[in-house]
Parts: sequence; structure tokens; C-alpha cells
Amino acid sequence: MSATGKQRKRVLMVGLLCQDILNLVHHYPAEDEDVRCVDQFWQKGGNAANSACVLSSLGESTEYLGAVSSRAEASSALQELRDFSVLTEHVVYSDCPIPTSCVIINMQTGSRTIVHGHRNMAELTAEDFSNLDLHQYKWIHFEGRNTAEVCKMMGIVEEYNNNVATPDDVIILSTECEKPKYKMGHLIPKVDVLFVSKEYAESCGFCNAEETVTKLLQRVKKGCTVLCAWGDQGADGITSGGTHYHCQAFAPEKVVDTLGAGDTFNASVIWGLCRGTGLEEALRLGCRIAGQKCGQVGYKNLHS
Ligand code: ADP
Ligand code: FRU
Repeated sequence: MSATGKQRKRVLMVGLLCQDILNLVHHYPAEDEDVRCVDQFWQKGGNAANSACVLSSLGESTEYLGAVSSRAEASSALQELRDFSVLTEHVVYSDCPIPTSCVIINMQTGSRTIVHGHRNMAELTAEDFSNLDLHQYKWIHFEGRNTAEVCKMMGIVEEYNNNVATPDDVIILSTECEKPKYKMGHLIPKVDVLFVSKEYAESCGFCNAEETVTKLLQRVKKGCTVLCAWGDQGADGITSGGTHYHCQAFAPEKVVDTLGAGDTFNASVIWGLCRGTGLEEALRLGCRIAGQKCGQVGYKNLHS
């Protein structure tokens, strides 16, 4: 990307904002046990919201877009986004309870066990999305959910891209195939950068990150880069030309909280690619910053 007006444009992260209720425990409770936690607190959650905060911390002008509860109970999650300097002026309010995740973080291992309640929250529609002025954006990442509507939103961006004045105005599209239940197959050929989670990869029958990126490269559009993170095994990426890279995980002194490691990885890779790094360096940034996140509770003060 050249040092032009593009530098001033924003990255837009589209997807979920929810309320995470974290319980930090010394050991994972047994069924029906009555335990006291080491600490308990609220934190904003949702893949798009988490990634937006990380991108903004890294210095990228970042906006979050999603359907957000208009109720008082949602105000702290939205405020937290703003505290990370994430722009939120286009969120669409809905009078529904905020989706909530009860999360158990086992401080011995850093594992995160999530019980998520969607609570009938409305989803962002393509009609909502069509109200945006797309000139403001250089990159739009769609969290892989609500795929029928997301497909239409991507169509709007494709249409915009087909009519831009200069190649520099083209918006880069990315998504993550994360939860197999969202049936995201038809989004795969639409994006320029495809993130694939271990869970999604395994649901396709792939055994590791290298196999995942290699096989999925056959299903993406020309010019697309594919990445797959695989927990403490690190991550792999493949360029559109078929050059494959692996990066090992960066183990922190102690793994204490892996909640949102994947969201941090995605944000850091997008940050690298926005700054013009190649795939190998972006992959390294993703693993390094995600490793940093695993060594601390929450998302504050992450740096490159
Ligand atoms: P998710 O949060 O979506 O389950 P992953 O577990 O695949 O995502 O993690 C994403 C990235 O975070 C990995 O590629 C790795 O770089 C880093 N990571 C995850 N777990 C660890 C760990 N235990 N130690 C160091 N880095 C980790
Ligand atoms: C982490 C996360 C949490 C949220 C859950 C939703 O990746 O976004 O913040 O509770 O996933 O599935």
C-alpha cells in the first residue's frame, strides 16, 4: 500500500459486541462444585470488538460496526470500545438484551471455557451496511456470522470496488471462517484475506494449519492470502502464488488467559498487512502479539 490518502482511511471491523463475564479460577471446577474465583470482572467481548480494540491499540484508525443493545446493561461494553479509541458512530442500536458470555479462565493453563448466550440479539443487515460512506475505509473485516447478510454486504463492497477512481481506493476484504455452524463456504471466494480457525479447519477434516491453508487456497479468489492459527502450534499462511510460511507460537513466561488470542492474531496480521509488510512478517506479528496477549489478562497495552 502506498503512502497516500489510503493511510488516513479506517479499518472497519464488522461483527459482534457482547458482554464477557470473566471468572479467573485456580483450577477448573468439577461439575456441581461450589468454588470461589480469584477474580471476576466484566469485559467487552465479541470477535470483531476484540480485534477492533487490538488494532486501535496498535495505532490503526479503527471503527467497529455491529448491532448493539440500546439497554443500560450494554453501556459498559460500548464504553470500553471507546476507551480503546475505537470509533463507533455507525453502530445500529436495537432494544434487545446484550449477548453475554460466561467465561472460566483457568489460570493454571490459560484455557478459556466459554458459555455464550445470544439472547435473541438482532444482527446487522445489509440495509444497515448500505448507509455507510465506503470512501472512509481501506479494509473491511467481516466476522464470520450471519452469513447470508454478510454475503450481501460483501457484494456492496465489491460493487464499490468495481467503480473506484484509482486502485488505491480499493477496499481490502477479509473474513474469518471460525465457527463451523455458520456455513461460510460461499464467503470464501469473495475475500482478499481469509482467516481460518482450528475449529473450522478440523470440521473440514484438515489435520493441521499447513494442510488447511494449502487446501483452502484452491477455493479462494485470485490474489487471496489464506491464514490459519493453531493455538500453541502457532500459525501458517500461504500467498496467492502458493508460497507457504509457518510461524511458531511465542510462548509467554506463563500462559494465563487465552480468551481472544485468535481475535488478537487476526488484528495484528491486518495491522501488519495495512503497513505493507509481507505475509511472513504479518504472520510473525500475529503470533508475537497473540502470544503477548496469552501472557496477560485482557487486551490492554498490547504492542508490536
Ligand atoms: P482462538 O482464540 O481463536 O482459539 P488460537 O487458539 O488458534 O485462537 O490462537 C491464535 C494464536 O494465538 C496462535 O496462532 C498463537 O500464535 C497464539 N496462541 C494461542 N495459544 C497460545 C499459547 N498457549 N501460547 C502462545 N501463543 C498462543
Ligand atoms: C473470543 C470471543 C469472546 C466472546 C466469544 C463469542 O474470541 O469473541 O469475547 O465471548 O468469543 O463467541
